[in-house]
This record gives sequence, structure tokens and C-alpha cells, in this order.
Amino acid sequence: MPATVIVGAQWGDEGKGKIVDLLAQSSDLVCRYQGGPNAGHTIIAGGETFKIRQIPSGVISGKECVLGAGCVVDPEVFLDEVDELEARGIATGVVRLSGNAHLVMPWHVAIDQASERRLGKLQIGTTRRGIGPAYADKASRIGIRVQDLLDPKILRQKIEVALAEKNVWLERVYEVEPFDLDKVAGQYETFAKRLRPYVADTSLLVDRALREGRSVLFEGAQGTLLDLDHGTYPFVTSSNPVASGAATGIGIGPNRLDTILGVAKGYVTRVGEGPLPSEIPSPDQERVRQLGGEFGTVTGRERRCGWLDLVALRYAVRLNGMTSLALTKLDVLSAFSEIPVCVRYRLPDGTETADFPAHQSDFHHARPVYETLPGWQEPLGDELPAAARRYVELVERELEIEVSLVGTGAERERVVSPRGLEPVAGR
Ligand code: IMP
Repeated sequence: MPATVIVGAQWGDEGKGKIVDLLAQSSDLVCRYQGGPNAGHTIIAGGETFKIRQIPSGVISGKECVLGAGCVVDPEVFLDEVDELEARGIATGVVRLSGNAHLVMPWHVAIDQASERRLGKLQIGTTRRGIGPAYADKASRIGIRVQDLLDPKILRQKIEVALAEKNVWLERVYEVEPFDLDKVAGQYETFAKRLRPYVADTSLLVDRALREGRSVLFEGAQGTLLDLDHGTYPFVTSSNPVASGAATGIGIGPNRLDTILGVAKGYVTRVGEGPLPSEIPSPDQERVRQLGGEFGTVTGRERRCGWLDLVALRYAVRLNGMTSLALTKLDVLSAFSEIPVCVRYRLPDGTETADFPAHQSDFHHARPVYETLPGWQEPLGDELPAAARRYVELVERELEIEVSLVGTGAERERVVSPRGLEPVAGR
């Protein structure tokens, strides 16, 4: 039985939550392998809207959910989500948290906010949830992990050591308030009591599930172009959303991953700073933003909108070893009589390329070369109109990949799956 990775193929917000939710129906386990409360998933099911940031979206379908070692966890956000889900009748006893995942501590959030303010015009445009500083401490081997919560003495000691340095940094460099040891330790001891039942050996748990032939879904947060190693650095997140991150982030071998489903919108969006070659000029950009509801789930920020960028998407197909592609929110484009698609970039030296530039200055100065397709200008139902089919076929032809799912509306059931769901999940 397969292990399926669902990976964002653009700059995040591709509508992965909906696809995960859909495929979760036929899965046994849903796992997150990287990222933290910077992710925002919106799921509309049974007429209700759920916005979750930290817990895998499979929880809505009552599936066993895993937060792997590659994640960073903000206990306060996690527990707030637990409370909200429970209050709405969703059981969270199915959630399992790796003891090796790192904690987002209050100073991480304070440093993220202060450092963005200090960068001014050079800021990354982070979600300001402490993600970068938490992963930085992990790499520096001074992070605090979920398992540290299990021993109050170790926890207090680690907080004390961290604060001795972070408070100097906060006061002298960023000129903001320091944290009080007793207050933070007390707060985290309270969190610890509530988090304890969720902690598990998630690598072993997922391995066992795969051996027993259960089907496991790995949901990537953010997207390929926000990958720390392969994205548009420095305008990236601090983890590895690419599909191979599922193996490291969970702690299973890369050969255990069977199916890699990329998720891309029928256009592109980006929040935060950084180049976006196919960014749409006004007023069409505002039109796409309104029609697509392109405002951040976590931060409420306006998302920048662009026409579909096949150069960037080709790169995502390659980096992830994608086996098929889901094209979401195609209905948003129904309003347009003509739809440009970026098929190549024109580089500063006048040459054109269909491959994503390896050098940052080429990418920063890349100009889009468009092929313009006629729009369909009618609502999308179960049968795609001919012009919408041609749009999808262009993507398949250019990227040499099958488009296995097309999103035609926000609700769970608004998906066209010409070949049925079985092949998508690799069964
Ligand atoms: P961070 O992950 O908060 O450090 O932010 C780094 C970059 O990733 C910024 O450009 C954010 O806007 C972007 N980012 C982080 N999480 C998401 C997400 O879930 N969707 C879209 N962009 C995100």
C-alpha cells in the first residue's frame, strides 16, 4: 500500500489542504513533516470552514495524525487548536507528536518580529511566528525539543540557558523587553502537562503503519519555491517542503515514498517579498485576488497574484520527482476572456529559457514570455468546457506530467478527477 506525498508546487497556498482532506478519506494516517504554525490550511467540509495551522488537516476526517521530527511546534498554538477542534466536536486524541520536533519558544516569535522590523525594506516578509529563529536554534544545537517537556527539571534548565543569551540579544540588539525565567518556565510546565499524552515515537509509528500495509499521506506545508535549499533564497521558509523532506522529516527511508502528488493553483500567488515574474498588472491582479479570496490564512495579508508560471512549475516537477499534478482553483480563471500562461523566461542577456534559472540575478531579472489561451467564461462543473480542457492539456504537454485532479470550487466535492481517485493515490 502506498505512501503518498502531497507537496506544494509553487509558493505555498496552493490549496493542498483541500486535496489532503480529499485523499485523507481513503488514508489511514496523515503526517506533517516540516514547518510549524506558519502553515495555514483552510478546509471546507460539511458546510463548515476549518482553518488550521499546526495540526495535520487529516484530523478533520478523524484520521490518525502525525507531526514529525522535522516540524517545529508552538505549544500555545497547538493547544489552542486542540481546544477549538474539540469544541467543534473534532476529537484530537488521534494526534501524535514527535519528541524530536523542536519547540517554538516565545523568544523565537519576538526575534522573528524584531528582526523583520529591523530589516525594514530588506525584510523577508515572514509570518512572524518564530519559524526561522526556531530552526536556526535547532541547527545551532541549542533548541528545545518536545521531549524536553517531559522532564520539568531539564525543561527549566534549558529555558534558563537559552534566556541567558536570548535576553541579551533582545534587549541590546533589538531593544525589546526580555523574558522572565519563572514566567516562561511556569507557562511551559503547564503546556507540558497537556502535551504529554500526544508525544510518541512517530518514526516507528509510521514505519509500522507502512509495514502493516496501511496507507499514509504526507502533507507538505508551504511550497517548493519556499524550500530552504532549493527555493528563492532568502525569500524562503526555514525547512524543506520538497517531497524528499517527508523522508527526513518523519524518519523513514526515501524508498518508502511511492507517489508524489504536486499541487499547483491554475495561477500563482506569493505572500511576502521576493521576485514573482508573472505577477499580474492592475486591475486584473485585484480581480484574481478577490475571486480567489487570496488573503493569508495565518496573517491575513494580501497575496500577490500572477498568471500560471510553467517555468517555475517545471522546476517543481523536477525537484519533487512529481508523479502527477493537481491543478486547483481553476474556477477563479472562469471570469477571464483570455488567460496568459508563462511558458518561458526572457533573461537579461536576451536569451529565453524554459528551465528555472540557477542564478538568483537571472531569476530576479527574468521577464515572462506568455502564451495566451482563450478563456472559457462559464462556471466549471463535472465536465470541463473545451477551453478549460485545452488549458489543462497545455500544462500536461509542457511539463510532461499528468494532471490528475482539477479543482473547480472551494468545497471538498468540487474536484474533477478524470481518471478517478485510485490512480492518484497510487493504488
Ligand atoms: P516564515 O516561514 O514565517 O519564516 O516565512 C518565510 C516566507 O515563507 C515568507 O515569504 C512567508 O510569507 C512564506 N510562508 C511561510 N508559510 C507560508 C504558507 O503557509 N503559505 C505561503 N507562504 C508562506
